[in-house]
Amino acid sequence: MPSLIHPQKMVWQARLTIGIPAIDEQHARLCGLANRLLDHPDAPAHDERVVDILTDLGQFLMLHFHTEEEYMRRLGMPTDEIASHHQAHNRIIDQYADLNLAATQGRMHTAAEIFRLVRRWVSDHLDMDDLKIKAYMAGGDLQPAARPD
Ligand SMILES: [Fe+2]
Repeated sequence: MPSLIHPQKMVWQARLTIGIPAIDEQHARLCGLANRLLDHPDAPAHDERVVDILTDLGQFLMLHFHTEEEYMRRLGMPTDEIASHHQAHNRIIDQYADLNLAATQGRMHTAAEIFRLVRRWVSDHLDMDDLKIKAYMAGGDLQPAARPD
């Protein structure tokens, strides 16, 4: 049965800007990709359009996490900080795999339900992990040679 109340699309907020254009652009694109799920909110999870979005999302998440971790290394962030951020990325990848499986098995019913889950990952991760990169840069603890161009 179609849901009567559809969730709101994700809107990029200035407070989430990290200050590294490559990462900020990827975050904005990630929101845009997730928002595509709401173009057909009642489409079932096995619908080709939903499957295509999930595939794109998975590929982009891998690229994005690689980019972020590369910047963290170049910024000279502490190794334990990078390791815990890497673990947070791995947890999202695991959740993504579970989501794909649930969608394949019909446990996720609609694109809107998948969107709610993806929105929570993205916003929680931005708030809890990615903003630490911004805080680190604000601390002025950058080695000039390591500053990304
Ligand atoms: Fe991250």
